[in-house]
Amino acid sequence: MKKSAISVGIIGFGTVGTGVAKILLKKEKELQERLGFPLLLKRIADTDTKRDRGIRLPADLLTKDADVVLNDPDIDIVVELIGGIHPAKEIILKAIRNGKHVVTANKALIATEGKKIFDAAKKRRVEVGLEAAVAGSIPVIKIIREALVGNTIEALFGIINGTSNYILSKMTEESVDFSTALDDAKALGYAEADPKFDIEGIDSAHKLAILLSLSFGAPFSFSKIYTEGITEITPLDIQFASEFGYKIKLLAIAKLVDSEIEARVHPTMLPDDSLISNVNGVFNAVYVEGDAIGQALYYGKGAGEMPTGSAVVSDIVDIARNIRTGAAERIRGLGMPVNRKLSIRKMEDISSCYYLRFSALDKPGVLSRISGILGGCNISIKSVIQKDRKKEKAVPLVMMTHKAREKDIVLALKKINKLPVVSGKTLFIRVEAKDE
Ligand code: HSE
Repeated sequence: MKKSAISVGIIGFGTVGTGVAKILLKKEKELQERLGFPLLLKRIADTDTKRDRGIRLPADLLTKDADVVLNDPDIDIVVELIGGIHPAKEIILKAIRNGKHVVTANKALIATEGKKIFDAAKKRRVEVGLEAAVAGSIPVIKIIREALVGNTIEALFGIINGTSNYILSKMTEESVDFSTALDDAKALGYAEADPKFDIEGIDSAHKLAILLSLSFGAPFSFSKIYTEGITEITPLDIQFASEFGYKIKLLAIAKLVDSEIEARVHPTMLPDDSLISNVNGVFNAVYVEGDAIGQALYYGKGAGEMPTGSAVVSDIVDIARNIRTGAAERIRGLGMPVNRKLSIRKMEDISSCYYLRFSALDKPGVLSRISGILGGCNISIKSVIQKDRKKEKAVPLVMMTHKAREKDIVLALKKINKLPVVSGKTLFIRVEAKDE
């Protein structure tokens, strides 16, 4: 016999939990009309039951004890919104053991322990919804798993960390330095509890690991993703980038190249007339190339109470519909089988165009010494800018290269950085553009 209502329990009543509760409670009637059956928010568990979240809850909805949710036989769907690895992992595994379907926004957990969670769910024949883990309001999981099922995905580029995008946008628009822009992002509440995850590219790499599994069947490969953050980008680089016709973005990149996957997160220079380079502030964007669709760009808010709450509710509704129609597991966990033959290309084997910023003495012969080393390492220079004129003093010298191998760039810079006419470490930024 069909249950008359599907019941939901939330564990973790922070920003996203509040958004989910607001939607489920305020739209209870509307959702019932759309679904054709009631969707009830039965319990919310959080260690802090006192804080005012700007939402009025029915009596007895809140509890301090997660087990009240996990052991409630009426609850069909457990929503984990605590974040982090522990105790979120144990809570999700217990929910699955208890036969509950799970919805989570926990990108760090899925990126690192996803296999264990999806294996457990498959065994217990329950679903795991993770739409809110990547790009908030952009339904990218649904897009890849369902809408693009007729495509072989060839490449995917994402601005999937709003905080770092906000920082780079602010540095570009207002010429402020990195730490001023970071302080601003913190004050506005965009950054993770530990902003290291945002600014060092870790949060983007977590999300990319999930997208890799969905798009290519690559087993959750977080530890194999090359990850570099934005902490070394200066307003000077942003200004030089603009003079060359580029913007700098923290990009998560996945590409199928010669039966291998390139999977990397790093600051990237993009032509300033491309759509994705004009995604600014805390907005996210995911660009996908598929063999049937060609190119597509998806854009929206990647974080925040209501956009992420909306993504969680979409998973809850999908699962509730599947429960009602007896179609749980309608879509296999990650939408495609794991392809164990697929390997992630070593970073040294990738090819790209590069922006190089040297700090070099302004005296005759310096340019030829640097370009000699680059030429000797098979690197061809496309253009050069030297702005300042400070005789016998260090000045920034900037070059753009044609496509070169990362291995050759690393070797050349090792040699160049040892030259007495070069001071400090040379900064390099990969460029994603056609090499004409
Ligand atoms: N700190 C994350 C961001 C939140 O800035 O995108 C959403 O995952």
